[in-house]
Amino acid sequence: MPAGFQQLGGEAVTGTLALSVFTAVLGSLEFGYNIGVINAPQKIIENDYNATWVQRYGEPIPPATLTSLWSLSVAIFSIGGMLSSFCVGFVSEWLGRRKAMLINNLFAFLGGSLMGMSKLCHSFEMMILGRFIIGAYCGLASGLTPMYVGEIAPTSLRGALGTLHQLAIVTGILIAQILGLESLLGSEDLWPLLVGLTVVPTVLQMALLPFCPESPRFLYIVRCQEHHAKSGLRRLTGRQEVGNILAEMKEEKRRMDMERKVSIPELFRSTLYRQPIIISILLQLSQQLSGINAIFYYSTSIFTKAGVQSPVYATIGAGVVNCAFTVVSLFLVERMGRRTLHMLGLGGMCVCAIIMTVALALLDNVPWMSYICMLSIFGFVAFFEVGPGPIPWFFVAELFSQGPRPAAMAVAGCSNWTANFIIGMGFQYVADLCGPYVFLIFAVLLLFFLIFTFFRVPETQGKTFDQIAANFHQRSAGGMMDMDMDLDKPSTELDYLGEESIN
Ligand code: GLC
Repeated sequence: MPAGFQQLGGEAVTGTLALSVFTAVLGSLEFGYNIGVINAPQKIIENDYNATWVQRYGEPIPPATLTSLWSLSVAIFSIGGMLSSFCVGFVSEWLGRRKAMLINNLFAFLGGSLMGMSKLCHSFEMMILGRFIIGAYCGLASGLTPMYVGEIAPTSLRGALGTLHQLAIVTGILIAQILGLESLLGSEDLWPLLVGLTVVPTVLQMALLPFCPESPRFLYIVRCQEHHAKSGLRRLTGRQEVGNILAEMKEEKRRMDMERKVSIPELFRSTLYRQPIIISILLQLSQQLSGINAIFYYSTSIFTKAGVQSPVYATIGAGVVNCAFTVVSLFLVERMGRRTLHMLGLGGMCVCAIIMTVALALLDNVPWMSYICMLSIFGFVAFFEVGPGPIPWFFVAELFSQGPRPAAMAVAGCSNWTANFIIGMGFQYVADLCGPYVFLIFAVLLLFFLIFTFFRVPETQGKTFDQIAANFHQRSAGGMMDMDMDLDKPSTELDYLGEESIN
């Protein structure tokens, strides 16, 4: 069990907390499913696009048009995500976290239905529109889920529970990879079911959300509803006495009331927020520009080029490694801290990218290099999930207090989706240009992000939101404080569940 779970025994993870986190991360599962679902059945769906074209125009689709239509079907997902993730702040403040998740499901329904019905209606436009709308769903979910989970989690479990967002994403990717096999749902007749299945977690989430409490932090700090916040806290902690948690929130609220409402431009203008927002953006970029989605979008063709037999199964192997190492991170994140794991992940990925490049370059002369290549891809994925996969998602919610958090999540989410789009669209062109050396570009970027993390990213493990924000306050006021030193002081008296429950 992760350290936090062990320390707190069964007491911390109440049924309500477990149910609420599970329900929230169903959105992440759906996000992962839609990342992975389009990979395996590409050729079969393309055949249907062609059949539609023949039916409409009496001739086969020109290859360039087919490539464009397919690239659009893949990439429009990230455009939907980019646009909607920018609205996370506004939507989560306006509707509240829980209602926003509930209403977001309408996008999933609409997107899933359009994709599922597109073959029947002989319309690739429906498929493309469906991908856009499901992307919009995922963009909102990628902000709302970590925000809600971060806000309801006890301080000592925030990292472990935050990692569950990523665990659900990778599980979704793996389910989609497996169901996408031609012998299962990735066939000519069944692919509409494969893409339409995305509505299943939606239905489950809609059924369960009414049983989950709204984030007490949101209720108390933003809506000033102390009574409702208290009853939510009691359900989440399973305790009657929640005074110590409220005291911490009160302090955060006091600070927030002294500040003006934080808009997105203000995040960059204010010396108070500039540092954490730059860290947040760079962490998101470190996740995407690590090149991970070059693997997840194009793994089958990378494995084919590397001479691996059964590339589809190697892709599933990468999915399994992906899941396994997210679990490893879940165990480590409350022991080793975010900063250390993130650096370990980036460093490991950098080394694997270099090994992969050497293996690809030698492939023509040394055939067994295909094994080294496959292993280095597995290593690349494994190191990704140790740190750069899960940590940026919940780290942003940790770096900001309640006031600026929604705006910060929107900016960070949008940076993530934009970088995701750039890799999705650009990788194949750059790979054609650079041949076996393409991963060297990622190695250089990874090294840069490693150095950045070493010098600029603080440790947040075990700190309350207020302590983390206060540290940035002191830093911007004094300009002389050593952030790492200060954040290294362990949190005691303000811990979510109080000191006695930890010991
Ligand atoms: C992260 C990334 C996502 C990627 C996935 C792979 O969640 O945000 O883009 O596909 O990890 O596991």
